Amino acid sequence: MRFNFDQLVIRENTHSVKFDGRQQYFGTTDVSPLWVADMDFAVPECVTRALQERVNHPVFGYTLYPDSIYQAIIDWFQRRHQWAIERDWIVFAPGVVPSLFAAAKAFAQEGEGVIVQSPVYFPFFSAVTTNNRKLINNPLRANNGRYEIDFEHLEVCAQQGAKLLMLCTPHNPVGRVWDEAELQQLLQISRRYNLTILSDDIHCDLIYSGVKHTMLGRLALPGDKIITTIAPNKSFNIPGLGLSALIIPNAAERNAMKQQFESLHLGNYNPLSIAAFEAAYCGGDQWLAALMRYLEATRDFAADFIAREIPQIKLIKPEATYLLWLDCRDLGMSDTELRDFFIKKCQIGMNPGTVFGEGGSGFMRMNIGTRRAVIVDALQRIKIALGD
Ligand SMILES: Cc1ncc(COP(=O)(O)O)c(C=O)c1O
Repeated sequence: MRFNFDQLVIRENTHSVKFDGRQQYFGTTDVSPLWVADMDFAVPECVTRALQERVNHPVFGYTLYPDSIYQAIIDWFQRRHQWAIERDWIVFAPGVVPSLFAAAKAFAQEGEGVIVQSPVYFPFFSAVTTNNRKLINNPLRANNGRYEIDFEHLEVCAQQGAKLLMLCTPHNPVGRVWDEAELQQLLQISRRYNLTILSDDIHCDLIYSGVKHTMLGRLALPGDKIITTIAPNKSFNIPGLGLSALIIPNAAERNAMKQQFESLHLGNYNPLSIAAFEAAYCGGDQWLAALMRYLEATRDFAADFIAREIPQIKLIKPEATYLLWLDCRDLGMSDTELRDFFIKKCQIGMNPGTVFGEGGSGFMRMNIGTRRAVIVDALQRIKIALGD
């Protein structure tokens, strides 16, 4: 089957945050939007077809989660991640970020500690601080251009009475896929200090060749307190539909999460989200394989171009995700100057590294989930602007 990721899909005037939110975020619409983590590609046909079939029925009443969506999740994680999930472990949730917020409330009391590992996707911070939990940062360490978890410091964090660790795996924005040894080490620390782990695996299917993603939940032993968040939203470009799932083997943790959602009566979801979610996991394998080949070629092009033409900027090739973490520190600009430079001189809208917390200053996050021609053009513009 052929998939054409070079096809232009016009997203302006669809109320898209990435396109129609430019004026608000960048103060201009005259930037190529390489920010917010969604892609500019049309979703797989199986998803569109499932949505159309559902829309053909003219009633959109309250909807159950059918047996088939549970089975789609079970089959996907067995087939792709060798993880045998039981149906009872699955809890549906309205998006992954609400699950981060719910976990902060479920597993730490007000004032108690939650560990995050910066630089990290910014709702990890707000999930903790908005709920008046104590933010304990265990910054990632860059070692010879590769990010690593600082396990010694993690123990120091755990000793401060932390209750919960929020793990981003694969990691947004640094693009690391934590290997099995690293995940085992995390589990050992969690056992030693009775830590619950929220493992946000939303990017688990966007893995480049030569790298293996391991689901932390698959390594867990009975008694380990692991909550895994998953969704087809990133992989299949349907984040606007908002449905995600939690995989929680232990009844105690499962009930604690359910209680958070029930306290706001957030149990039901809409029939379109259910149709798209299930269709993606049932019929999206080939599309996803083609997507990863396309993204990998774009990533490799960008890495070569940056190394050759704009060596002032350093890119650590991501092992996963369509997000590039650009180290711009050698440009010698302040964070405000850096943001202005990319918006005004290059006409590129990216996420400034500072929003990802400590370790983000001097960095920019570029979203390459778009036609390759757009990325070629953006990189050329940076080259020219730096040559001025
Ligand atoms: C690590 C991570 N978690 C969660 C999300 C968003 O999840 P949702 O849209 O389901 O709330 C993102 C989006 O970029 C992400 O990178």
